Amino acid sequence: MLLLEPPFAFQPVDYRVRIAREEWERRGCAALRRAVFCDEQQIFHGDDADEWDRVALPIAASYCVLGAPEQVVGTVRIGEIEPGLWQGSRLAVHRDFRRVASLGTELIRHAVCSAHARGCRRFIAHVQEQNVPLFLRLAWRSLERVTLHGRPHHLMQADLAAYPPRAAEEVAFVAELRRAA
Ligand SMILES: CC(C)(COP(=O)(O)OP(=O)(O)OC[C@H]1O[C@@H](n2cnc3c(N)ncnc32)[C@H](O)[C@@H]1OP(=O)(O)O)[C@@H](O)C(=O)NCCC(=O)NCCS
Repeated sequence: MLLLEPPFAFQPVDYRVRIAREEWERRGCAALRRAVFCDEQQIFHGDDADEWDRVALPIAASYCVLGAPEQVVGTVRIGEIEPGLWQGSRLAVHRDFRRVASLGTELIRHAVCSAHARGCRRFIAHVQEQNVPLFLRLAWRSLERVTLHGRPHHLMQADLAAYPPRAAEEVAFVAELRRAA
């Protein structure tokens, strides 16, 4: 019998955010979306995949162990809906990693900067109402309130001046250790 609990839980600090190219990353993004948008939020039933997934670029945030990516814990997808107009959707961070390593912020940054490098002149997203303060702090503005999937959202637009073009497909960063709320 284990008499002593380990003094601390493992908390990764090394993260990588990149366009998901490998099969395990794409599967990880899809599984995380199902966990968040089907099981947790119950916006969709069974699977949240749609036509848009055929053309959109998935982005994965993974934590790394000994320098190698271990598991997808955040995702978002981006795509061009008309020339110069890009949209982001399905932003999700694993429950255990929210407010821990700024993954939501880093995913939004990589999404908009990557689109900017690909010719984006305007970047929009439908943002769930409870997340509007987060986006406002990240140089987005609300264009209008809308109801989507029966829930309150804001159609929001990023200030591209705050998101310089990023040609690199991947960014790696070391997160400050913070305790999850
Ligand atoms: C929204 C979401 C992606 C944010 O991910 P995250 O990794 O927690 O985001 P960050 O850590 O980068 O948050 C940045 C800051 O905004 C704050 N913040 C995060 N979510 C917030 C919210 N809903 N309202 C206000 N502030 C928020 C955090 O406290 C953090 O502040 P801090 O740096 O002072 O601690 C995550 O909560 C999530 O997956 N939610 C469920 C799915 C969802 O709502 N998707 C978005 C659809 S629009």
